Amino acid sequence: MNVHGQHYRTIWLKKDNPGVVQIIDQRYLPHKFVIEDLTSVDEVATAIFEMHVRGAGLIGATAGYGMYIAALHAPRHNADAFSAALEADAEKLKATRPTAINLEWAVQRQLAAIEAAGSDIEAKIEAALQTAQIIADEDAEFCRRIGEHGLSLIEEISRRKQGEPVNILTHCNAGWLAFVDYGTATAPVYAAHDRGINVHVWVDETRPRNQGARLTAWELGQHGVPHTVIADNVGGHLMQHQMVDLVITGSDRTTYTGDVANKIGTYLKALAAYDNDVPFYVALPSSTIDWQMQDGVKEIPIEQRDATEVKYIAGLSDGEHTSVLLTPADSPAANYAFDVTPARLVSGLITERGICRATAAGVLELFPEKKLD
Ligand code: MRU
Repeated sequence: MNVHGQHYRTIWLKKDNPGVVQIIDQRYLPHKFVIEDLTSVDEVATAIFEMHVRGAGLIGATAGYGMYIAALHAPRHNADAFSAALEADAEKLKATRPTAINLEWAVQRQLAAIEAAGSDIEAKIEAALQTAQIIADEDAEFCRRIGEHGLSLIEEISRRKQGEPVNILTHCNAGWLAFVDYGTATAPVYAAHDRGINVHVWVDETRPRNQGARLTAWELGQHGVPHTVIADNVGGHLMQHQMVDLVITGSDRTTYTGDVANKIGTYLKALAAYDNDVPFYVALPSSTIDWQMQDGVKEIPIEQRDATEVKYIAGLSDGEHTSVLLTPADSPAANYAFDVTPARLVSGLITERGICRATAAGVLELFPEKKLD
């Protein structure tokens, strides 16, 4: 992704010091572009929990680099002490955010790779480094492929509309900021825009943290994609008036049966889309699929965050990043961060291997190797 004409990923190792992980600190976007250095597992855990980094794929990639940092700092005098330190750091990272399955997936993948590297500790550290890079590279490549597969949906609508703008509604930020590069829900949009297809994106603001208004709008602007920010409750009205051709969202965890956990409010958009015959697609890499869970509504853990995120709103005032109280000071607030959209409301899943129905049969057709699990 380009930022002011320069290509960035959302996470990388510092050029002259591979013991330092660098991230774009998303708390300051869109007003300030801040790069943060992470040098310890505690700093990595804080960055995930406090959402300096966020979004399923990027949380996974950050946890991958976090386990590399853990290996780098674990005691080297004996193998048991090394493993015990890694296990403790793995638990610390996994405890930061519960809904996006990519976090646990990346930590487990690292533990398996480090174990498989044998008994030499230097070899284990090297394995952790390689695995962190592979997780990040795969995330970017899978998102690129999601863009290519999702493009076909936009092309078809564009043909039908004879070149009139294709209006796509998205919720939250499932863009490149939520992954290592490209994003999921936005990847088909970027692919279409780059091929000269006339696209326009309705960007849900996404209260309470406003990932749509702050991050998706910024990303689309950087890429030159026409877009309009809307308040969260506008989508239903737009759909009733044929002003949305397609909804594409991301996912933080998708059961192999096709239920989709995504940012709070996604379910209501899916209901409105269903009622108005608007196709509702979810774009996700396979690292976001939970191969154990069948019933997303009952089983997917829903993160509840601090009430202050609902009670206060942050933005720029007189050039200063600031936060102001929105509610009566003593009103309690609840902050459910995700909801689950049942598979029956999902038109299809856009994955790195293609588009499938949101059913176990559809998913397993694309990922037949999972049938044995
Ligand atoms: O709480 P966040 O910002 O980490 O939420 C995750 C999301 O960005 C969205 O739910 C997104 O649509 C999922 S795709 C990473």
